[in-house]
Amino acid sequence: MKQDMILILDLGNSENTTLARAIRDLGVYSEIKAHDITADEFNKLNNVKGIIINGGPLNIVNGEAITVNDFVYELGLPVLAVDYAQAKCANTLKEWPSDEAEMKEIIKHFIFDECHAEANWNMKNFVEDQVELIRQQVGDKKVLLALSGGVDSSVVAALLIKAIGKQLVCVHVNHGLMRKGESESVVEVFKNQLDANLVYVDASERFLSKLEGVADPEAKRKIIGAEFIRVFEEEARKLEGIDFLAQGTIYPDIVESGTKTAKVVKSHHNVGGLPEDMKFELVEPLYYLFKDEVRACGLELGLPHDMVFRQPFPGPGLGVRCLGEITKDRLEAVRESDAILREEFANAGLDQKVWQYFTIVPNFKSVGVKNNARCFEYPVIIRAVNTIDAMTASIEPIDFAILNKITNRILNEVEGVNRVCYDLTPKPCGTIEWE
Ligand code: XMP
Repeated sequence: MKQDMILILDLGNSENTTLARAIRDLGVYSEIKAHDITADEFNKLNNVKGIIINGGPLNIVNGEAITVNDFVYELGLPVLAVDYAQAKCANTLKEWPSDEAEMKEIIKHFIFDECHAEANWNMKNFVEDQVELIRQQVGDKKVLLALSGGVDSSVVAALLIKAIGKQLVCVHVNHGLMRKGESESVVEVFKNQLDANLVYVDASERFLSKLEGVADPEAKRKIIGAEFIRVFEEEARKLEGIDFLAQGTIYPDIVESGTKTAKVVKSHHNVGGLPEDMKFELVEPLYYLFKDEVRACGLELGLPHDMVFRQPFPGPGLGVRCLGEITKDRLEAVRESDAILREEFANAGLDQKVWQYFTIVPNFKSVGVKNNARCFEYPVIIRAVNTIDAMTASIEPIDFAILNKITNRILNEVEGVNRVCYDLTPKPCGTIEWE
């Protein structure tokens, strides 16, 4: 392990991640562990230079104070206790200052002057460390990964390929609701360029037939989700001697699960909805990375820019953008118009700026004129939004000339479409997706 580490003990303080983030911003790696970490668990960690006991209002659960184990004070390491009345160390703070600069100064002083930590947290070292840790964990066993082509699973795949090569088996399920060229690019990057052990499953027809006649958005989501697990499970059962399952769990997944107790549950969380009798040990090398760190890691591993900076894409894919019952003609219209939108956004540099942008094809038609004749065809709706956390979103004010160009291309190139609209609805009250 090359990186020095500052350990944060979690007593349910919701600011733990902000603290970890602040320490990492100073170039020192930081991890959060449960408050009741044992000496054995601690001894498995490497290069811990100091410990912060981050207390707060939540360190009383069911009327009882939760405390850290005494060995923490006996390690000979600097310990800083914040808002933690039971502290048995000299270094205590009643609370973090609300002023960010002041807080940073305290952290800086603690990690550099007292802990003598080295600012050596960078992606090159992270990758080297993880490669070593993965090899230690996995040995000569095999690891299974559902490779969706999203940022997180792609980075996990690249990291595991570097660590254990062909011992990693990636399964890519194409549910037929991917964007244009996406499954192809997964095969190109992982099979052709990185020489991965990749099982590619084209389940398009299977998904489409399951979705036939289903118009309700939630019913569509459920079918797509359940079918995805079924296909993955079938593939997993065909493979022999797999002991581990890799997951692209990242830090926000843990943070979003909320309270301390939820976090504890999370560390034993279920393995991607697989049946009880399929037990795997988890490999989660991105567990402590923030999204921007995951991207930096992907770049360090040599993944293509487009894959690393891919915009968020919902699990049910284009299925929730082809409104109502999914039909092949409208699904094709969504896919083609989305490809045009993405191309033109990239040409205009908007792909670097806009958080999420896509097209929607509703299940109704409108009257138009094409080639001097009446036509009755589908509209395409463009949506482009900016957001921090997807809870609220604002509309990207796209330049009219760019909108015109995209409109003309969609009308000329996408079959069965005679109208283009731009959705100006912020969230709230419109959700980002239409379904
Ligand atoms: P909404 O439409 O709720 O979307 O404003 C917020 C963000 O979540 C994405 N989204 C989903 N992601 N499965 C996912 O993995 C889903 O079923 C799903 N529905 C919405 C959406 O694309 C946006 O980024």
